[in-house]
Amino acid sequence: MNKVAIIVGARPQFIKLAPLVETLTGKVDLLLIHTGQHYDFEMSDIFFKQLNLPRVHYHLGIGSNSQSTQVGRMMISLEEVFLEESPDLVVVIGDTNSTLAGALTAAQNFIPLVHVEAGLRSRNDHLPEQINRIVTDRLADIMCCPTESAVRHLKSEGKTGGIFLTGDILYDLIDRIEPSEEYTDALLNKLKLIKGEFILMTAHRAENVDNPDFLKSLVSGLKKMTKNVFLPLHPRTEKQLKLAGLYDELASNPIVRLSKPVGIIESLALTKSSLGVITDSGGLQREAAYFGKRSYILRDETEWLELAESGAVTCIGNNSDISGLEWKSAAIPDEYFQRASKNITAAILNNLSEK
Ligand code: UD1
Repeated sequence: MNKVAIIVGARPQFIKLAPLVETLTGKVDLLLIHTGQHYDFEMSDIFFKQLNLPRVHYHLGIGSNSQSTQVGRMMISLEEVFLEESPDLVVVIGDTNSTLAGALTAAQNFIPLVHVEAGLRSRNDHLPEQINRIVTDRLADIMCCPTESAVRHLKSEGKTGGIFLTGDILYDLIDRIEPSEEYTDALLNKLKLIKGEFILMTAHRAENVDNPDFLKSLVSGLKKMTKNVFLPLHPRTEKQLKLAGLYDELASNPIVRLSKPVGIIESLALTKSSLGVITDSGGLQREAAYFGKRSYILRDETEWLELAESGAVTCIGNNSDISGLEWKSAAIPDEYFQRASKNITAAILNNLSEK
């Protein structure tokens, strides 16, 4: 059997690993590698537990550092694993530093590369995620695109072969684990939240939360809100709020409920029962759209162009007044939510059989 290495390291990648593992199991010899980019229980282990993911074969334990140090250390360790295991193909997902390190190391060791969530672009080429996406797509042999606009981006950059419109693998996952009404009601009860009467909010992007002005406007915007807000804090955000001296002010706001990062099942249940979402996350806006909820994005743009065109997603920039937002529901045509993991698996098997 051909050996396929899948590299993960950050929260959104663990989530997408589940459907991929399910469709690839029995068809290839799977080698799972965790870079250790995310390491807190709430940022990593909880997803392996909730999604019944198999133990990874290698945990590289890289942890946090500057972008280049993190990527460099990952590459050194990944090369050792590749030399030991000789995978026939490497799969990377998304746009994190783990994605970039996997892509560069595969390419330098002449191992065919598959990129899941290929072709997404923002207009800002200096964002770490955008750099990671562009380089990864440039090196990939197979590009699995979640949307038609992603396919267009790759073609306009001169890519000719290896582009597949597979759909968005996030929706495969929601199919598998959508929380039941009973689970959702029990969770809301525990958190003392009322269905349809709270907003789910997240913010974690470096370009936002590393900027004290952003944090200031967030904290003061939340003071003017009249609706309850549930806000699970990414460790990066918590750290920066404390550094900026704003954490206590936020924590003492009676309409805001701060929490540690939540697991994927809690996150889906909260999204499904919220009034809507304010976020800078790529994943949360797609999950909200799936449940017919409106998202306001704390950025000037989104990579999910189809969702913005449909009106489900609105970019409000990172310095606007969030207290006066309108909360009507969003309707997206069902065809948008096509399932991807079978298509990705077919693209992988097809590439392996050509050798
Ligand atoms: C990364 C991705 C981003 C993705 C996000 C999902 C890159 C460049 N960015 O951002 O695209 O949307 O993950 O969460 O890869 N930290 C902890 N515990 C952890 C993990 C991180 O405390 O388990 C702290 C560290 O102090 C670190 C900071 O969070 O300095 C940022 O972590 P990092 O790995 O740089 O990326 P994210 O901001 O999570």
